[in-house]
Amino acid sequence: LISVRFSRTRRDGEPPLVNGWIPFLGKALEFRKNAHGFLAEHKEQHGDVFTVLIAGKYMTFIMNPLLYPYVIKHGKQLDFHEFSDQVAPVTFGYPPVRSGKFPGMDEHIQRSFRLLQGDNLDNLTESMMGNLMLVFHKDYLDGESEWRTESMYQFCNSVMFEATFLTMYGKPAHTNRHSGMVTLRQDFVKFDNMFPLLIARIPISLLGGTKTIRDKLINYFHPQRMSTWSNTSGFIKERAALFEQYDCMGDVDKAAHHFAILWASVGNTVPATFWAMYYLLTHPEALAVVREEIHCVLKVSGLEADHNRDITFTREQLDSLLYLESSINESLRLSSASMNIRVAQEDFSLRLEGERSIGVRKGDIISLYPQSMHMDPEIYENPEMYKFDRYVEDGKEKTDFYKDGQKLKYYRMPFGSGSTKCPGRYFAVNEIKQFLSLLLLHFDMEVVEGQEPCSLDSSRAGLGILLPATDVQIYYRPRQAREEE
Ligand code: HEM
Repeated sequence: LISVRFSRTRRDGEPPLVNGWIPFLGKALEFRKNAHGFLAEHKEQHGDVFTVLIAGKYMTFIMNPLLYPYVIKHGKQLDFHEFSDQVAPVTFGYPPVRSGKFPGMDEHIQRSFRLLQGDNLDNLTESMMGNLMLVFHKDYLDGESEWRTESMYQFCNSVMFEATFLTMYGKPAHTNRHSGMVTLRQDFVKFDNMFPLLIARIPISLLGGTKTIRDKLINYFHPQRMSTWSNTSGFIKERAALFEQYDCMGDVDKAAHHFAILWASVGNTVPATFWAMYYLLTHPEALAVVREEIHCVLKVSGLEADHNRDITFTREQLDSLLYLESSINESLRLSSASMNIRVAQEDFSLRLEGERSIGVRKGDIISLYPQSMHMDPEIYENPEMYKFDRYVEDGKEKTDFYKDGQKLKYYRMPFGSGSTKCPGRYFAVNEIKQFLSLLLLHFDMEVVEGQEPCSLDSSRAGLGILLPATDVQIYYRPRQAREEE
């Protein structure tokens, strides 16, 4: 391992610096292997704010969630997009948006995010429901009605990938499904496996065939091809129209932007769907309550589960599924490991609570690591345990969680924070709700007995929802079959 001598010494007012001869690469690897444990250990030694050199960057970790608001609200000196604007273009292969080459584009892109939220969710939700039913029927419900086996991750991936794709980008001319979807998904998985390395700025040329695969994925979104698709979401349509306004933007660059959105819209949603499904299926009491809740909502609306008919849930109905939402949020708490990053624009003193402040230098990275908060036993009793109703109290969503006797403003952060908060978060939770509702209404499903409990693969710690270390085998059959017997 390469070792570097710290040229930097701690100045007065700066947080403790993890100092000395540090195995440069070693810290980065140690961090990636077990970020949560690494940070907990440093917190024990250095307190709730400290600076570590990781992969060549000085990173100051704010470990106490009571201090999060001071970082999240801090606008002027802490830049939110600098990091992503450097990393995303290299990862997805488009020219940096804030390079000055595309005046006004960044603001437009930020504005386009509203098309994933509020009333715009009605159309997205309706379209997603139709697409989920299409894929479920064609691939899993039609035909033989006996028990079949499947791998759970594979199942979630094939359904959510295609249904989300169709909802975002639309369908091809004259048919409901895109040809080549299986290949597209397989290529996407190959690219996604390399994602942590790309984010770590390993040049794509060193990653075997990854460049060829990425080129293939990008080409799928060539503007000429996309122009033949219909039922495209307003969000993607607005972005495509925006790119057309820039003559200096090549077709491949436009396509690469669309590909990046594909990653944003399924890269985390698929593993999140997996965990939500896995925890429900392995906790029968949770499954029973959630199933009952879904049936109740349908009954109140006069829509008994009729297997011969497509079911639709309005956005209001989805919003009213309190236990289902809590169960999804609980699985997000257990599986998310995203890092929130801000880059200091100048040397300054970051005010924390009371009289406390810390010295920060230009270029330093201020990081929040919410997984440490999600797993804090003071905030969440038995944090390793899945409690599907953790976020329900007195028939309402529970929002009061405490640390050191103080109510926390931020207690669950799978979607980031402040101005980099995921713009797709409402759509993501909705589509997981839709997936699970349809699953529980239309399938009998069981986890094959005798399998080890599924654990988290931490190789993408810091980057979002963790994948399962192994897949899980399930049995399923169309639910209708049982009722006909
Ligand atoms: C950004 C998480 C689903 C679109 C983010 C960020 C996080 C996140 C943590 C912030 C990254 C940062 O700090 O820079 C998740 C999770 C999801 C999910 C956990 C599923 C469970 C979605 C979906 C969409 C989406 C379904 C779109 C339909 C985006 C976009 C950004 C983003 C466009 C970049 C925002 C920006 O540049 O300011 N997501 N996301 N996400 N997400 Fe999501």
